[in-house]
Amino acid sequence: MTVLDLVVRRTTEIADGIRELALAAADGRPLPPHPAGSHVVLECGPARNSYSLTNDGAAPSEYTIAVLRRSGGSVYLHERVPGDTVKASRPRSAFAPVRTARKHLLIAGGIGITPMVAHVRDARRWAQNVELIYVHRLDAGAFAAELTTALGPHLHRVTTREDFLGVLKGALTDQPLGTHLYVCGPGSLTDRVLTDAADAGWVPQRLHLERFVPAELDPGREFVARLARTGRDVVVPPGTSLLEALLAAGVAVPNLCRQGICGECRTPVLAGTPHHRDEYLDDTERTAGTALMACVSRSETDTLELEL
Ligand code: FES
Repeated sequence: MTVLDLVVRRTTEIADGIRELALAAADGRPLPPHPAGSHVVLECGPARNSYSLTNDGAAPSEYTIAVLRRSGGSVYLHERVPGDTVKASRPRSAFAPVRTARKHLLIAGGIGITPMVAHVRDARRWAQNVELIYVHRLDAGAFAAELTTALGPHLHRVTTREDFLGVLKGALTDQPLGTHLYVCGPGSLTDRVLTDAADAGWVPQRLHLERFVPAELDPGREFVARLARTGRDVVVPPGTSLLEALLAAGVAVPNLCRQGICGECRTPVLAGTPHHRDEYLDDTERTAGTALMACVSRSETDTLELEL
């Protein structure tokens, strides 16, 4: 993977338990540009976490991220101070605005607001029609002041489940044709939004999902990974990822997030049926079944033949 050496420029507490970090290239050079909704994977001590970029991606002199303090890598980042260095991947885009959309309906839960901040800034830059439903705890609405100014009546801030479901129902049934929906937040929220949207007649091509917490994955069942180039069989037991099994067998597979988000471990499939559990591939790629993310995905067939 390409690694960016970044240095912390500023840290700011922007809401209860949420710290914004501004990161610049350690050598002072411009950073790689990226579309709105992109993320980077940061090395946070021994952990690797994925964070959405909230900065303008056109010609960034710094990347900004907002980190909710939980445990592990997020605590590490909360403890960084200006001058500290951090390693990051190049930005990855899996949640970019659809340029042909007539309107963008954004739905964010909690810290899932971060990619939406970039989407709102992008929509305003390109004078696009945008509406945001933002669910957050009382007094924990990061970016609330900026979003209120930017969106006015097109921002719906809700702090209870009942209010959210009411606003959601109205939003799903009252949109111009050609609206695209983007949702980011905890699994319970994203699942509800996607289910209600499907029930309201939204087609999958107009629904876009970004999870900030990897889905809980079951251990799965044993299968065999057949390596086409050598004819070797590698057994993947329950609870061990395909990536882990391959690495343990001495097979080099690039990887980064190990959460099915970054796309680094994409592996071509020659035979068998993958059981996709990532957040990276789109529906067309999933249906084709010709590649899978080895860090989280498994096999529906007893054997999966890989181009390795
Ligand atoms: S390592 Fe990031 S998707 Fe697998």
